[in-house]
Amino acid sequence: MTHDVPSFSNPVRQRPAGARSESADGVHSADGNAPAGRGADPATARQAATVAAKAASATPMIELIDFGKRYGEFTAVERLNLKINKGELFGFIGPNGAGKSTTIRFLATLLKATHGEGVINGHSVTRDPLGVRRCVGYMPDNFGVYDGMRVWEFLDFFAVAYRIPRARRKQVIGDVLELLDLTHKRDDFVNGLSRGMKQRLCLAKTLVHDPPLLVLDEPSSGLDPRARLEFKALMKELRRMGKTILVSSHILSELADICTSVGIIERGQLLMHGPMEDVYRRIRRNRHIEIKFVDQMELGLRVIRSNPATRDVQVDGMRAMVELDGSDEVVADLLDELTRQRVRMRSFADKDPTLEDVFMLVTKGLVS
Ligand SMILES: Nc1ncnc2c1ncn2[C@@H]1O[C@H](COP(=O)(O)OP(=O)(O)OP(=O)(O)O)[C@@H](O)[C@H]1O
Ligand SMILES: [Mg+2]
Repeated sequence: MTHDVPSFSNPVRQRPAGARSESADGVHSADGNAPAGRGADPATARQAATVAAKAASATPMIELIDFGKRYGEFTAVERLNLKINKGELFGFIGPNGAGKSTTIRFLATLLKATHGEGVINGHSVTRDPLGVRRCVGYMPDNFGVYDGMRVWEFLDFFAVAYRIPRARRKQVIGDVLELLDLTHKRDDFVNGLSRGMKQRLCLAKTLVHDPPLLVLDEPSSGLDPRARLEFKALMKELRRMGKTILVSSHILSELADICTSVGIIERGQLLMHGPMEDVYRRIRRNRHIEIKFVDQMELGLRVIRSNPATRDVQVDGMRAMVELDGSDEVVADLLDELTRQRVRMRSFADKDPTLEDVFMLVTKGLVS
């Protein structure tokens, strides 16, 4: 394993892009591509980098095979099968008690499976936990108590645990503090930090051994809206630096715009998972179109009501919310017809379902 010091860039402070990160397997540049060799032709290097990125993204970082966990008689997670490719930002979503932390703790090698297996970056979770630990930065859902420990000591403690050589530790700690905007807190006691700062410190700790995978258990819980936004920016930046990230949450809107893929779990069962667009597509049978009229509204409403795909129309002033049952073609046909009839509209908007909509439909068993 390499311990080359990553040069991080801090999204919170809007530092320039282009930071490079050497991961545990030593191959990442800012966008997750393999670095170009010195003096290489830029176009060829770009091509090679694209090929390398595609190859990397097709390889799984996490595989769960029939993972299950029982606590006594109680089944917390049942036969969970999941594959998450390198470079993904995977949102693990489910209500309280769904089994998110149980699964995450297994991936972090802190919990024994009742059955099944996990493979992380090619290492078996059950047979090669040390190999797995080198690849994983784990952020637990609670911070723990660190009496009398200063911020730099906290990070040094983990750096020692990860066997980072003494000569490198100072630099690594400086870098992660900088990335997480905690440099000014370096000598403060950990227990005196605000919740938001503790969360950032905890994220800093996952980075000291520069693992290719981050597993974050509700990293933004209890944070104020600004701190949440900062956390999102950090996750995006870390992904840009080449990290694969699994992040759990039950605040769905928090993940909707940053995740590349998502898994929905309830009562220990993975109800749905896949790339974000696929998950949205699967629930887009009922479309909600918002139409704002300029004039000719009566004619417009007649056109809408006579459309066989129309299921419901709610009118509010010069605005109508239309529920349609159908595909993109059905939506396009309705727009065509309104235009053909010269109904003048200020806007015609296909309202994408939110992650909350997906979650409610999936957990109610309405979509599978
Ligand atoms: N050590 C344990 N002993 C007994 N039952 C447990 C233990 N840990 C978890 N459970 C149970 O397993 C189920 C899943 O818990 P888990 O912590 O994985 O849920 P979660 O999805 O992380 O929930 P939350 O959103 O509240 O963090 C819950 O019903 C919980 O009570
Ligand atoms: Mg949990």
